[in-house]
Amino acid sequence: MSKFDTRANNWDNGDIRVKGAKKIAEAINAVIDLNKDMQIIDFGTGTGLLGFSIAPSVKQVYGVDTSAKMLEKLKEKNTSELSIIPYHQDIIKEPLTQEFDGLISSMTLHHVQDLEAFFATIYKNIKKDGFIAIADLEKEDGTFHSDNEGVHHFGFEKEELIQIVQKSGFKNIKFQTINTIKKPHKDFNIFLLTAYK
Ligand SMILES: C[S@@+](CC[C@H](N)C(=O)[O-])C[C@H]1O[C@@H](n2cnc3c(N)ncnc32)[C@H](O)[C@@H]1O
Repeated sequence: MSKFDTRANNWDNGDIRVKGAKKIAEAINAVIDLNKDMQIIDFGTGTGLLGFSIAPSVKQVYGVDTSAKMLEKLKEKNTSELSIIPYHQDIIKEPLTQEFDGLISSMTLHHVQDLEAFFATIYKNIKKDGFIAIADLEKEDGTFHSDNEGVHHFGFEKEELIQIVQKSGFKNIKFQTINTIKKPHKDFNIFLLTAYK
């Protein structure tokens, strides 16, 4: 059982998480021209906090996650009007063959050990002119999480991340600070990185 399996039941009770995902959705909507023909992948969708905010603006969101329990909570939220199609799969080890118009992701990249492999994989899954919109922590000192199990990066430094994304082939890369999460001991900035194939 993964750390996220044990946290799935309470995930949507986290006010910081719910508000944070909303801010990310607003930022994505502000910079990406979403439309009702688009099929979008939400990488590390969890319970769908980001995916369900984006779903009304596109044709279909597909939510990929390695935690079965997080996806169970997501499925409970599916309705006939608004739904996310869940994929329980590590797409780096077992890549999808499907192509998407775009990829969105919230607070998952720091759980990905091999960033080069991740961006090389998703590059193949994005259609020409498609986009990626990835939000996560800016460089931090390792105190954002109370437990760093499964945390492979203490946030990301702008230029280092841009170089990796560029190397994988994406173009027109932009990195902007879109939110600050205030914890009692410190403030943590959240970035949104966007790029196109
Ligand atoms: C911090 S949570 C974020 C969930 C959701 N995006 C949100 O904002 O509420 C990270 C999620 O990524 C998933 N995850 C971690 N590594 C993953 C991987 N390699 N592939 C897919 N999902 C992964 C975890 O199971 C977890 O649900």
